[in-house]
Amino acid sequence: MKTLSPARIWGVLAFAFVTLLLLGVPARLVLGSSFLAGTPLFDEVLTPLLLIDVIVRWRSAGSLRAYGWRWLLADLTAAIPFGQLIPGTPIDLLRLVKVTRVIETMQQWWHRYIARWNSLRLLYSGYFIALLLHVLACGWVALRSTHVTLLSGENTYLRALYYCVTTLTSVGYGDITPQTNYEMLFAIAVMALGVGMFGYVIGNVAHIISNLHPSRARYVETMERINAFMDYRGLPRGLQERIREYHAYRWEKRLGFDESAIVDDFPPSLRAEVSLFLKKDVIEKVPFFKGASTELIRDIALAMRPVVYLPGDYIFHAGDQGHEMFFIGRGSVEVLGRDEQTVQATLKDGEFFGEVALVKGQPRNASIRAVGYCDLYALRKDTFDHVIAHHPGFKEHIDRMVTERFTRS
Ligand code: CMP
Repeated sequence: MKTLSPARIWGVLAFAFVTLLLLGVPARLVLGSSFLAGTPLFDEVLTPLLLIDVIVRWRSAGSLRAYGWRWLLADLTAAIPFGQLIPGTPIDLLRLVKVTRVIETMQQWWHRYIARWNSLRLLYSGYFIALLLHVLACGWVALRSTHVTLLSGENTYLRALYYCVTTLTSVGYGDITPQTNYEMLFAIAVMALGVGMFGYVIGNVAHIISNLHPSRARYVETMERINAFMDYRGLPRGLQERIREYHAYRWEKRLGFDESAIVDDFPPSLRAEVSLFLKKDVIEKVPFFKGASTELIRDIALAMRPVVYLPGDYIFHAGDQGHEMFFIGRGSVEVLGRDEQTVQATLKDGEFFGEVALVKGQPRNASIRAVGYCDLYALRKDTFDHVIAHHPGFKEHIDRMVTERFTRS
């Protein structure tokens, strides 16, 4: 489990009391004593916390330069209880500058929990929408009446909030209507804001939903493109079906990821480790690898490329030139004679084939056909030659296999 450092705990705490500040300052201005922020405790508690926040940040930054004088100015401004020093003026709103810290913290969390990107995005949108609605509701209260209560009576904060929500979301029931010119201007501003915000929220939600299953979205997109292409080029139905089956299988087994392309982007050290991990199924199954040196296994694992064959596919035909040999990760293949009818052998998980042509430099001596779905790993001739040259044990093993297969057939 990740340990929570004091700095992180303070970060969460600071987020909480800054949120309280952002809610409390506008509320106190318009609601006065009828709101929590009207209690004298509001400043008595928040101001020391905000000052401690300045000290904590200064200490963790190390110097004023690292802190940044603009940040210092913002943090100090937020800590000053203007509302108490100069009552009856909106100067207290200056403290809302602290919202910049909220944004900064959100960005930090965003980077730290990048895997929870979608949920965080939703939460952040919700947070800011709620904050905006609160500030707008306070603005409406300020325009409407001087005698406002939180819940009871005619002019309540709740009614103001209700008005702002209906207007901002463009629902606008019309049960509360602007009366004065200022109220109308305010309503116009809220409606304009609503249009922009609506677009933002809808766009965000659509993006998040389409990203919930990125691999599925990618699969659907690939299939749509391929289907359109196949229709346009008039590919035979049977062939189309096999192409679709191939993609369905690839998606099911590997979520459609092109592992080689992803791994190729990694630095060499990581590439070797990841390759070994990804190919551990075949490495564990091939009996020869059990006693092989880690160096040999690494060399081969790095060079092996995963390939998929569908039931009935020919991997190659007798007489073809040999450019690769194959290890079977999962599935089975049939070794067919030249007539492509007689089954000479069936090879299963952990076995390999196609080495004879590489060793002897001659055409394929048999055809190979996939029985079911086959996950194979291909090793190209140049890598094969390199491995043979550097690992005598591998060469001996292959030679033995070749002789064995020749004597058997
Ligand atoms: P290659 O000649 O390159 O291509 C066909 C492959 O089938 C061959 O290498 C061997 O790996 C494999 N093969 C051929 N004959 C047999 C057999 N009798 N038993 C198992 N595998 C075989």
